[in-house]
Amino acid sequence: MKIVAFAASNSSQSINRALASYTAHLIPGAEVDLLDLNDFEMPIFSEDREREHGHPPAAGAFLARIAAADALVISYAEHNGSFSAAYKNLVDWASRLSRKVFQHKPTLMLAAGPGAGGAASVLALAERSAPSMGANVLAAVSVPSFQDHFDLARCQAGEGEPMARVRAAASELQAALAAA
Ligand SMILES: Cc1cc2nc3c(=O)[nH]c(=O)nc-3n(C[C@H](O)[C@H](O)[C@H](O)COP(=O)(O)O)c2cc1C
Repeated sequence: MKIVAFAASNSSQSINRALASYTAHLIPGAEVDLLDLNDFEMPIFSEDREREHGHPPAAGAFLARIAAADALVISYAEHNGSFSAAYKNLVDWASRLSRKVFQHKPTLMLAAGPGAGGAASVLALAERSAPSMGANVLAAVSVPSFQDHFDLARCQAGEGEPMARVRAAASELQAALAAA
Protein backbone atom coordinates (compact mmCIF):
# COMPACT_ATOMS: atom_id res chain seq x y z
CA MET A 1 0.00 0.00 0.00
CA LYS A 2 1.38 3.37 -1.01
CA ILE A 3 0.88 6.63 0.86
CA VAL A 4 1.82 9.89 -0.82
CA ALA A 5 2.74 12.43 1.86
CA PHE A 6 3.83 16.01 1.49
CA ALA A 7 3.98 19.38 3.14
CA ALA A 8 2.15 22.19 1.41
CA SER A 9 5.36 24.19 1.82
CA ASN A 10 8.59 24.60 -0.12
CA SER A 11 10.75 25.20 2.94
CA SER A 12 13.76 22.91 3.33
CA GLN A 13 13.17 23.20 7.11
CA SER A 14 9.44 22.56 6.88
CA ILE A 15 7.79 21.49 10.12
CA ASN A 16 4.82 20.32 8.07
CA ARG A 17 7.08 18.00 6.10
CA ALA A 18 8.18 16.47 9.42
CA LEU A 19 4.56 16.05 10.49
CA ALA A 20 3.40 14.58 7.17
CA SER A 21 6.29 12.11 7.11
CA TYR A 22 5.85 11.09 10.76
CA THR A 23 2.11 10.53 10.30
CA ALA A 24 2.38 8.54 7.07
CA HIS A 25 4.99 6.28 8.67
CA LEU A 26 2.53 5.43 11.46
CA ILE A 27 0.61 3.23 9.01
CA PRO A 28 2.08 -0.27 9.34
CA GLY A 29 3.46 -1.69 6.10
CA ALA A 30 2.94 1.49 4.11
CA GLU A 31 5.35 2.49 1.40
CA VAL A 32 5.66 6.25 1.88
CA ASP A 33 6.31 8.46 -1.14
CA LEU A 34 7.34 11.78 0.44
CA LEU A 35 6.97 14.54 -2.13
CA ASP A 36 8.96 17.78 -2.10
CA LEU A 37 7.08 20.70 -3.66
CA ASN A 38 10.40 22.05 -4.92
CA ASP A 39 10.41 19.18 -7.41
CA PHE A 40 7.20 20.60 -8.90
CA GLU A 41 8.16 24.25 -9.17
CA MET A 42 6.53 26.04 -12.08
CA PRO A 43 6.12 29.63 -13.27
CA ILE A 44 3.29 31.50 -11.61
CA PHE A 45 0.05 30.29 -13.14
CA SER A 46 -1.59 32.58 -15.66
CA GLU A 47 -4.18 31.88 -18.30
CA ASP A 48 -2.00 33.73 -20.80
CA ARG A 49 0.98 31.46 -20.07
CA GLU A 50 -1.29 28.44 -20.32
CA ARG A 51 -2.58 29.58 -23.72
CA GLU A 52 0.88 30.36 -25.03
CA HIS A 53 2.95 27.52 -23.59
CA GLY A 54 0.51 24.84 -22.37
CA HIS A 55 0.99 23.01 -19.10
CA PRO A 56 4.43 22.50 -17.53
CA PRO A 57 5.29 18.78 -17.26
CA ALA A 58 5.55 19.13 -13.46
CA ALA A 59 1.77 19.58 -13.22
CA GLY A 60 1.16 16.20 -14.84
CA ALA A 61 3.98 14.61 -12.85
CA PHE A 62 2.32 15.72 -9.59
CA LEU A 63 -1.03 14.24 -10.65
CA ALA A 64 0.69 10.97 -11.63
CA ARG A 65 2.31 10.64 -8.18
CA ILE A 66 -1.12 11.12 -6.59
CA ALA A 67 -2.70 8.64 -8.98
CA ALA A 68 -0.23 5.98 -7.80
CA ALA A 69 -1.26 6.45 -4.15
CA ASP A 70 -3.76 4.51 -2.08
CA ALA A 71 -4.00 7.43 0.35
CA LEU A 72 -2.70 10.94 0.93
CA VAL A 73 -1.28 12.71 3.97
CA ILE A 74 -0.99 16.46 3.44
CA SER A 75 0.25 18.93 6.04
CA TYR A 76 -0.44 22.59 5.38
CA ALA A 77 1.88 25.51 6.12
CA GLU A 78 -0.01 28.72 6.86
CA HIS A 79 1.17 31.90 5.15
CA ASN A 80 -0.85 34.98 6.02
CA GLY A 81 -3.86 32.90 6.94
CA SER A 82 -3.79 31.01 3.66
CA PHE A 83 -1.91 28.48 1.52
CA SER A 84 1.78 28.92 0.77
CA ALA A 85 2.32 30.36 -2.70
CA ALA A 86 4.23 27.22 -3.73
CA TYR A 87 1.28 24.95 -2.93
CA LYS A 88 -1.35 27.23 -4.43
CA ASN A 89 0.57 27.57 -7.67
CA LEU A 90 1.02 23.80 -7.94
CA VAL A 91 -2.64 22.99 -7.41
CA ASP A 92 -3.73 25.78 -9.75
CA TRP A 93 -1.65 24.29 -12.57
CA ALA A 94 -2.64 20.71 -11.73
CA SER A 95 -6.33 21.62 -11.58
CA ARG A 96 -6.18 22.76 -15.20
CA LEU A 97 -5.35 19.19 -16.21
CA SER A 98 -7.80 17.57 -13.82
CA ARG A 99 -10.15 19.51 -11.53
CA LYS A 100 -10.22 16.64 -9.04
CA VAL A 101 -6.55 17.00 -8.17
CA PHE A 102 -6.76 14.61 -5.20
CA GLN A 103 -8.55 11.93 -7.23
CA HIS A 104 -10.89 10.84 -4.41
CA LYS A 105 -8.06 9.27 -2.42
CA PRO A 106 -8.65 8.85 1.32
CA THR A 107 -6.84 11.83 2.79
CA LEU A 108 -5.56 13.07 6.14
CA MET A 109 -5.29 16.84 6.28
CA LEU A 110 -2.90 18.19 8.91
CA ALA A 111 -1.49 21.60 9.72
CA ALA A 112 1.36 22.60 12.01
CA GLY A 113 2.38 26.05 13.12
CA PRO A 114 5.00 27.31 15.54
CA GLY A 115 2.44 29.41 17.38
CA ALA A 116 -0.81 28.96 19.27
CA GLY A 117 -2.94 29.22 16.12
CA GLY A 118 -1.71 25.87 14.81
CA ALA A 119 -2.24 26.95 11.18
CA ALA A 120 -5.96 26.34 11.79
CA SER A 121 -7.00 28.98 9.23
CA VAL A 122 -5.28 27.27 6.32
CA LEU A 123 -6.53 23.89 7.49
CA ALA A 124 -10.12 25.19 7.44
CA LEU A 125 -9.50 26.55 3.96
CA ALA A 126 -8.13 23.20 2.79
CA GLU A 127 -11.12 21.36 4.23
CA ARG A 128 -13.53 23.79 2.61
CA SER A 129 -11.96 23.38 -0.82
CA ALA A 130 -11.60 19.60 -0.47
CA PRO A 131 -14.85 18.56 -2.18
CA SER A 132 -14.15 20.62 -5.31
CA MET A 133 -10.58 19.25 -5.38
CA GLY A 134 -11.75 15.64 -5.12
CA ALA A 135 -10.26 15.02 -1.67
CA ASN A 136 -11.95 12.38 0.47
CA VAL A 137 -11.00 13.82 3.88
CA LEU A 138 -11.08 11.25 6.69
CA ALA A 139 -9.73 13.57 9.38
CA ALA A 140 -8.26 17.04 9.81
CA VAL A 141 -5.92 17.86 12.69
CA SER A 142 -4.09 21.06 13.56
CA VAL A 143 -1.02 21.00 15.79
CA PRO A 144 -0.31 24.31 17.55
CA SER A 145 3.10 25.15 19.05
CA PHE A 146 4.52 22.30 17.01
CA GLN A 147 8.02 22.37 18.46
CA ASP A 148 6.55 21.83 21.95
CA HIS A 149 4.94 18.59 20.76
CA PHE A 150 7.50 17.22 18.33
CA ASP A 151 11.26 16.78 18.63
CA LEU A 152 12.44 17.73 15.15
CA ALA A 153 16.01 16.53 15.71
CA ARG A 154 14.85 13.04 16.66
CA CYS A 155 11.61 12.97 14.62
CA GLN A 156 9.81 11.98 17.80
CA ALA A 157 6.32 13.04 18.82
CA GLY A 158 5.34 13.91 22.37
CA GLU A 159 2.52 12.33 24.34
CA GLY A 160 0.36 15.48 24.51
CA GLU A 161 -3.14 15.94 23.16
CA PRO A 162 -2.36 17.35 19.68
CA MET A 163 -0.11 14.45 18.69
CA ALA A 164 -2.58 11.99 20.21
CA ARG A 165 -5.14 13.39 17.77
CA VAL A 166 -2.66 12.90 14.92
CA ARG A 167 -2.15 9.25 15.95
CA ALA A 168 -5.93 8.75 16.12
CA ALA A 169 -6.27 10.17 12.61
CA ALA A 170 -3.58 7.76 11.37
CA SER A 171 -5.49 4.86 12.96
CA GLU A 172 -8.61 6.02 11.14
CA LEU A 173 -6.75 5.98 7.84
CA GLN A 174 -5.31 2.55 8.61
CA ALA A 175 -8.81 1.20 9.28
CA ALA A 176 -10.18 2.73 6.07
CA LEU A 177 -7.37 1.19 4.03
CA ALA A 178 -7.89 -2.20 5.66
CA ALA A 179 -11.62 -2.06 4.85
CA ALA A 180 -11.09 -1.01 1.22
C1 LIG B 1 5.20 34.60 4.54
C2 LIG B 1 4.83 33.93 5.83
C3 LIG B 1 3.58 34.12 6.36
C4 LIG B 1 3.21 33.47 7.55
N1 LIG B 1 1.93 33.63 8.02
C5 LIG B 1 1.53 32.91 9.09
C6 LIG B 1 0.17 32.95 9.51
O1 LIG B 1 -0.67 33.60 8.94
N2 LIG B 1 -0.20 32.19 10.59
C7 LIG B 1 0.73 31.41 11.24
O2 LIG B 1 0.35 30.73 12.21
N3 LIG B 1 2.01 31.34 10.85
C8 LIG B 1 2.43 32.08 9.80
N4 LIG B 1 3.73 32.00 9.38
C9 LIG B 1 4.68 31.16 10.11
C10 LIG B 1 4.60 29.73 9.58
O3 LIG B 1 3.53 29.07 10.20
C11 LIG B 1 5.91 29.02 9.86
O4 LIG B 1 6.93 29.63 9.08
C12 LIG B 1 5.84 27.53 9.61
O5 LIG B 1 7.08 26.97 9.97
C13 LIG B 1 5.49 27.26 8.16
O6 LIG B 1 5.40 25.88 7.93
P1 LIG B 1 6.59 25.06 7.24
O7 LIG B 1 7.75 25.08 8.22
O8 LIG B 1 6.03 23.71 7.05
O9 LIG B 1 6.95 25.76 5.97
C14 LIG B 1 4.13 32.65 8.21
C15 LIG B 1 5.40 32.45 7.64
C16 LIG B 1 5.75 33.07 6.48
C17 LIG B 1 7.12 32.82 5.87
